[in-house]
Amino acid sequence: MEKLTILLVGSGGREHALAWKIAQSPLCGRLVAAPGNPGIEAVAELRAVKATDADGLVALAQEIAADLVVVGPESALEVGLADKLAAVGIPCFGGSQRAAQLETSKAFTKDFCQRHGLPTAAYGVFEDAASAGAFLDTLEAPFVIKADGLAAGKGVVIAPDRAAADAAVVDMLGGRFGSAGARVVIEEFMHGEEASLFAVCDGKTAVLFGAAQDHKRAYDGDEGPNTGGMGTYSPPPVLTQDLIDQAWRELIVPTVEGMAAEGNPYVGVLYAGLMLTPTGPKLVEYNARFGDPECQTLMLRLESDIVPILLAAAKGELASAKPPQWRDEAAICVVLAAEGYPDAPKTGGRIQGADADFGDGVVVFHAGTTREFEGRLVASGGRVLNVCALGADLREARDLAYGALERISLEGGFYRRDIGWRALSQPS
Ligand code: AMP
Ligand code: GLY
Repeated sequence: MEKLTILLVGSGGREHALAWKIAQSPLCGRLVAAPGNPGIEAVAELRAVKATDADGLVALAQEIAADLVVVGPESALEVGLADKLAAVGIPCFGGSQRAAQLETSKAFTKDFCQRHGLPTAAYGVFEDAASAGAFLDTLEAPFVIKADGLAAGKGVVIAPDRAAADAAVVDMLGGRFGSAGARVVIEEFMHGEEASLFAVCDGKTAVLFGAAQDHKRAYDGDEGPNTGGMGTYSPPPVLTQDLIDQAWRELIVPTVEGMAAEGNPYVGVLYAGLMLTPTGPKLVEYNARFGDPECQTLMLRLESDIVPILLAAAKGELASAKPPQWRDEAAICVVLAAEGYPDAPKTGGRIQGADADFGDGVVVFHAGTTREFEGRLVASGGRVLNVCALGADLREARDLAYGALERISLEGGFYRRDIGWRALSQPS
């Protein structure tokens, strides 16, 4: 079989996990990553083109004659990378700029949900404080206030009382998140446990691509500020097969069909952030990409070759592709973060022990790392390393990951010690 040249876009732990999995494929002849990171460098050639430089990435894809471009972060989709690749005939795993609005505009998604009757929180979209206030009058505390556009996961305020809600509205409309906050979305508060469900889509068809549970708060016990995610595990037992089936029927299928019917076919990962409410799964948000660090646990659990699935999705041929096979084992990912993350992460902290051989089942993915002179590894971002493990069950996976973390050090760094606590506190 002819080998493929693949360009992977991104530089985080999610992309290291994707690179690790893609590089194992017998179909992968050459893997180039832009811009990549020191972990990805072990399995791919790195090229210094940023994920937001759509023209630079198209030029690179043409230069290497890429057979497939795999996009990690939404920032690349938002600048129209998939559209530009389509214009030059290069298959891209990742959605068009318009389709990515399911992630990049909360108002777009809420309006879409309303048009198609998808289960989600009641909401209103406002551009002035007076009409926002009138809508808040109809809701009960706590109040959910969101900046409409992308705000790096920080544009959501859960206000415990009305004064805090009003202050958040004024703050966002006043420009705290720049143009992302020119409109605010106010939502009914949904009660329940959260879980993430993933589908791989080709514009017409969707294929289930696993589930995971994230830990968004910075500190143990779900305390502290919201982050991009401090750790995940997969599968989450709370998301039973019945709930997955319900979310599939009520959310994923109508979303893929609705996007296609509106002339906006959805290609790539459809990541549904779900609230498991007493009346069933409801949508918290959609993302147009793999979760980070959810992806890391999915890659550990994915038994089949990932390349045929990514290629089939990019080419609109998912209906005839073999469905992915998953290992029965549980996977965990613990994020080692830099001091000060998420507010003011301190870069430059020295990392030691990350390159050790931790034995079967443990994989360390790089996120915000860089190599200084003589190959010394230092932190260059908020989330620095992702220590992941696969075990017979979640307990075993957790023990393996935390055992490895004891052998790794990051100056000033920290990690949560309770990843997986919800599943682990259930009677087995
Ligand atoms: P988002 O960026 O929209 O995913 O929101 C970030 C976090 O805020 C979610 O993961 C939830 O924990 C919480 N959240 C957002 N919207 C709601 C809602 N309507 N009800 C309850 N919690 C919410
Ligand atoms: N871990 C949450 C996200 O990727 O959005």
